Amino acid sequence: SIYSVSALLFAYLFGSIPTAVWIGQAFYGIDVREYGSGNAGATNTFRVLGKKAGIAVMLLDIFKGYTATNLAYLIGLSVTGPQNSVQFVNYQLALGITAVMGHLFPVFAGFRGGKGIATLFGMILAVQSEAAMLCVLTFVIVLLISKYVSLSSILAGFSFPLSVIFIFQSPIRSVVLYGMSICVLILVTHQKNIERLLKGKESKVNLFKKK
Ligand code: G3P
Repeated sequence: SIYSVSALLFAYLFGSIPTAVWIGQAFYGIDVREYGSGNAGATNTFRVLGKKAGIAVMLLDIFKGYTATNLAYLIGLSVTGPQNSVQFVNYQLALGITAVMGHLFPVFAGFRGGKGIATLFGMILAVQSEAAMLCVLTFVIVLLISKYVSLSSILAGFSFPLSVIFIFQSPIRSVVLYGMSICVLILVTHQKNIERLLKGKESKVNLFKKK
């Protein structure tokens, strides 16, 4: 319907809000895309502008994915049926991934955005919160051991479909399929990181920095 299409458009626009770029420009007079990894995401904001800005961007980007996905409640239920129905979850996933596309290719920042990890996390938090918690666990463990955010993001991403299949045994096949597509998406957005990891040239994060 016209409502469900408008919601998708809204999800794209919402995901497009370039929090890293805008926070950097507004409070520090800096476009984070010109420094560090050049990425408009929480990690690079943390790297370039510090803890406060990095955490703010992370929370806002998670919020973008979570909220866009849950737009399904506003419009979906009447169209798709109850919240556990395959149709409803599919609509949630469509909204979430559309917001992620907005984050990757933001209309408000010359289509040069981030890698979508925080926004993807917001999306899976809305769809499968237990699996999302396992992703956090994977992320934190890999980060503490390796100090590489990119590697942590990649492995946390892979833990999503794996946990959905083997631990939570989701009856909804599209969640599994989306989970697998998310892995592919993460590998694509992290190509440069993977090259650097293989060459031993990826930058490590300093979790205990003061600012
Ligand atoms: O969330 C993106 C992260 O996995 C990598 O970011 O800036 O190190 O390329 P970055």
